[in-house]
Amino acid sequence: MPNSLTVRDNRTGKEYEIPVENGYYIKAADLKQIKAPGLDAGIVSYDPGLMQTASVKSRITFIDGDKGILRYRGYPIDEIAEKKNYMETAYLVVNGEFPTKSQYDEWVHNITYHTLVHENLKNFMMGFRYDAHPMGMMVATLGALSTYYPEAKLVSDAQVRMQQIFRLIGKIPTIAAFSYRHSTGWPYVDPSNDIGYVENFLTMMFKPSFSTRYEPDPVLVKALDVLFILHADHEQNCSANAMRSVGSSRPDPYSCAAAATAALYGPLHGGANEEVIRMLKEIGSVDKVPALIQEVKAGKRRLMGFGHRVYKNYDPRAKIIKKMADQVFQVTGRNPLLDIALELERIALSDDYFISRKLYPNVDFYSGLIYQSMGFPSDIFPVLFAIPRMSGWLAQWQEGVTDPEQKIVRPAQVYLGSDLRHVP
Ligand code: CMC
Repeated sequence: MPNSLTVRDNRTGKEYEIPVENGYYIKAADLKQIKAPGLDAGIVSYDPGLMQTASVKSRITFIDGDKGILRYRGYPIDEIAEKKNYMETAYLVVNGEFPTKSQYDEWVHNITYHTLVHENLKNFMMGFRYDAHPMGMMVATLGALSTYYPEAKLVSDAQVRMQQIFRLIGKIPTIAAFSYRHSTGWPYVDPSNDIGYVENFLTMMFKPSFSTRYEPDPVLVKALDVLFILHADHEQNCSANAMRSVGSSRPDPYSCAAAATAALYGPLHGGANEEVIRMLKEIGSVDKVPALIQEVKAGKRRLMGFGHRVYKNYDPRAKIIKKMADQVFQVTGRNPLLDIALELERIALSDDYFISRKLYPNVDFYSGLIYQSMGFPSDIFPVLFAIPRMSGWLAQWQEGVTDPEQKIVRPAQVYLGSDLRHVP
């Protein structure tokens, strides 16, 4: 059986052979030979949201949405979450393998020694309004970082690329913590080089200005580390696509990361965890859940934290988070919004509207409850998504800029505007 499709153009009677690669994809460029009537250009496929279009070849993350499978570099997410920490995971995502002991030590050292930011960058952040959204601050500050490292635009140089990878993974928790402290009016706390990545982030966030000591609870450090693992990468999502798309015109990775963070900011992507808490607070009590479900079914609003472009089954990350919530609540006390969330999930999973559309809880449904119990305000939630996703963005960016097949991203369009007309 030949590995091809035979496409017959019924307008002309002509037949075309389109090769099927790896058993499941065709090259869109092969459609070019099928001419559109009256046009030299070949036909194009119209795919708003790129739902059925593979824009890249990647070796980083595998998802089977129907089976609820997520793997980084071939390793199942639940095994990684159980046996590894975020620093090892970030190394895996960026470099393709788990580090050896000496590779790990070097990786952690390099990231740790790039956590500090230039004093001028602090001054830059201090210029934001007191009530600036932390994600808006992150977008702008990551963009501003590009002005500090002009050599970063040498994206073909592997060593230069790796240096920026250390800097971005190292500095993003610092910028994230400053974006929070800015809104509280507390002085920024500089990073410490003698504690772990997550501990350091929590210290920069919550260490009281009047105290020299701050020791985050180890259970909460572990929980946040697992949440970081779960958020490290998710193949060609909206923000990864932004990172790669901007990266395809070859600016420095700080500019790309600013674009990716902007994409993550939206309520349909990384902003959803913040919206979940807002929705649960608005519902207020378990008896009001059916009324909200009715509104959702009437198409008046969406159930935030539900549904996913790829997962048409329970999001495997949500399963792990739901289990972890119990450990966190033992330390922080039970989040009163949990009962509303559980009731929402119970009703939604037994309702035909959600079943027929394959709408299950996604990663954002329970993560917000954990973040809130740990003392994070809700507008910092998308920032907590951006910190670990930086490793995934950088892996995606590096794969893109080193791929000889990658061209500048420049999609086609279906033009519906006026035909030629002349200025009167
Ligand atoms: N609540 C109610 N109905 C929904 C929802 C929802 N959360 N999500 C999808 N639907 C319905 C939608 O109305 C449509 O129904 P119909 O066929 O009758 O028009 C159908 O399900 C398909 O929806 P879609 O918008 O075509 O699906 P999509 O793949 O384009 O959207 C999504 C995926 C994540 C944007 C969407 O499910 C959504 O808006 N969810 C709420 C926001 C959210 O939780 N986002 C976080 C995603 S996971 C973390 C991340 O990757 O950032």
